[in-house]
Order: sequence, then C-alpha cells, then structure tokens
Amino acid sequence: MQGDLERILFHETTILSRLDQIAAQITKDYAWKELTVIAVLNGSLVFMADLMRRIQLPLRLDCLSVASYHGRAQTSGEVIFKQIALPDVQDRHILILDDILDSGHTLAAIREKLQTAKPRSVKVCVLLSKKKTREREIDADYLGFEIEDEFVVGYGLDYDERYRNLPCIGVLRKDMIKSGDE
Ligand code: IMP
Ligand code: MG
Repeated sequence: MQGDLERILFHETTILSRLDQIAAQITKDYAWKELTVIAVLNGSLVFMADLMRRIQLPLRLDCLSVASYHGRAQTSGEVIFKQIALPDVQDRHILILDDILDSGHTLAAIREKLQTAKPRSVKVCVLLSKKKTREREIDADYLGFEIEDEFVVGYGLDYDERYRNLPCIGVLRKDMIKSGDE
C-alpha cells in the first residue's frame, strides 16, 4: 500500500504529536464545558479516535455521514446527507471534525445544516487543509496541517474507499488515480 504513495507527508508520530497540541488547546478553550463532537464519516474516523482520547473534557460523540466525492478524486460540489435524523445539538457546544478541507462544500453544508438545530456554539476542526481558494467560505478553528493542493490518502483518508488504514499520510501516485478523476 505504501508503495502506491509518491511521498509521505506526515508519519504517524508527527500526526500524534500535533494532536496532543490541538487537544490541549481544545481542552483549554472549552474549560470544563461539555463538548459535543460531531465526526464526519468515514474520513475522520481515525483522526476522531486519536483526538477525542486526548481531550480532557466531558464529551459526547455523534457521527454524520455525508457523501460528496462518490469515489473520485474531484469534488462534485453536491453534499448528500446519508441519514434522515440529525444529531440532537440544541444548546450544545458543537465541534465538527473532518479529515480535510478542500473545496469547502462539505463543511459549509454541514455547518449550515447543524445551525438550523440551534446549537449554543459551532466550531470546526480539521486535520488537513489544502492551500487553495475555496468554493465555499469556511475556515477551520483548529487545524492539524496545511498542505499543497495534492490528493492525499492514509490515516482515514481514502481514494475510492482504499488506503484508510495506512498509518501515515502521503501523496497518492498520479498513476494510481483513474483517468477522468483528476
Ligand atoms: P470538500 O467538500 O471539497 O471540502 O471536500 C471534503 C471531503 O472530500 C473530505 O471530507 C474528504 O472526504 C474528501 N477529500 C478532499 N480532498 C481529499 C484528498 O486529498 N484525499 C482524500 N479525500 C479528500
Ligand atoms: Mg473521502
């Protein structure tokens, strides 16, 4: 699997020490308020599991399932919510977790939808953010790493549902991406 990478960007140890810092910041910022983490499936699963165990706050977890990529390496712009009921977020401090901020469509749509359920506050935490002009206006309140505009996999991130179990994050070799997906 690792042979399908053009190069490794972040080793597991680098990711985990960054998570120590982010979790400490979140713990400090919310200072014993109860936090509701909303993880965006499936990409944020590994990130969520490692991050939430480092946050020292009373914490609830909910997951949201959306699709915007349909197994391709380009965003379609359309965000489909895969469940009918939204998590109960009224009067709660919400922290939305996602793997990567790319065009911004996914997180903007999720934040908009959750706002309608009247949470007390909403913040966004992403592991990665691509340096590019977003199609939707959205910024992360907590960010792991900024990366160039390249297609990356591993540590939860997939290409066509593969590579999520790679412990590191790396740039996928161009020849592994199906033509038409670029
Ligand atoms: P956005 O809606 O364009 O911001 O895309 C967000 C979603 O697209 C993420 O949650 C990922 O699932 C997926 N995505 C965007 N860029 C990448 C990438 O480089 N590798 C893997 N998945 C990606
Ligand atoms: Mg994905």
